[in-house]
Amino acid sequence: MTNFDALRQQVKQRTDDGLLHYVTSLPDHAPTLKSAMAYALTAGGKRMRPLLVNLIGNALDIPQQDQLAISMAIECIHAYSLAHDDLPAMDDDDLRRGQPTCHVKFDEATAILAGDALQTMAFSILVDLPMSEYADKHRAKLVSILARASGYLGMCGGQAIDLAATGTVISPEALTTLHTLKTGALLKACAEMITQVSDGLPAKHRQAWIDYASYIGLAFQIQDDILDVEGDAEIIGKPQGSDVAQGKSTFPALLGMDEAKFVLSQLHDSALQALASLPYNTDTLSAFTELMVKRTF
Ligand code: IPE
Ligand code: IPE
Ligand code: MG
Ligand code: MG
Ligand code: MG
Repeated sequence: MTNFDALRQQVKQRTDDGLLHYVTSLPDHAPTLKSAMAYALTAGGKRMRPLLVNLIGNALDIPQQDQLAISMAIECIHAYSLAHDDLPAMDDDDLRRGQPTCHVKFDEATAILAGDALQTMAFSILVDLPMSEYADKHRAKLVSILARASGYLGMCGGQAIDLAATGTVISPEALTTLHTLKTGALLKACAEMITQVSDGLPAKHRQAWIDYASYIGLAFQIQDDILDVEGDAEIIGKPQGSDVAQGKSTFPALLGMDEAKFVLSQLHDSALQALASLPYNTDTLSAFTELMVKRTF
């Protein structure tokens, strides 16, 4: 196992443990909802967003407790977005992380409520979990960043454009906006939040981290589109061909597979350039970048 693989494993374990502990500590007055929240949060997940928070956080010497609180909050929003994304009213998918989707395992109303409760849980975590003295002073800013990235100006706005664009042909610019919002915004928020709690970080460096995350955020969704066509359902843990079946606006569907892969490789280069402008050892981040754009799972 490489150092990078070991780190990935460690971040995943730490995030899984933190989330499971948080959700199981909730009182039991609504047991089905609680089970659905735990299911949506902890039944698998690559934890790429926590890994990004960790890699930037380690480069900037951010304490682990700050990294963990930010990572857990991001994963709550991400898990909620997936539970809602899979609903019949949205992508109507039955498989997620190799298991039945939340509304299939439970029911639609429970999956809606689980998403709602996970969304607010993200903000409780950001406000309540222990953090360093410096980060503690920046909680309101963290809430503001995550709220913006999750709502109309971020993920929800992107999901709305995604639904409106289904079965239609949109321009490459509109498609880029769609992907930048629905998936890019949360990945960008990882960089925005973790750099927010770095004391004395020059604005220029903060911007380079945010640019880096924006490039890989868009790239990650393009690779997701590619895997929907070329991936193996067993490995991606999601139904293969779902986008094509629904007439989704994706990079392969609108630009063709070769062009989609070309745009992906350009974003990979741009991400590496953003990293190269930073005065840190970014070897692990280069490995992470490669994983984000070339993943098969
Ligand atoms: C899936 O995200 C949805 C997208 C935004 C592409 P991930 O591929 O990060 O999902 P998990 O958390 O690993 O299941
Ligand atoms: C990402 O798009 C959706 C979210 C913002 C939750 P997809 O609809 O392509 O994600 P998957 O393929 O279902 O994971
Ligand atoms: Mg979708
Ligand atoms: Mg989907
Ligand atoms: Mg997809």
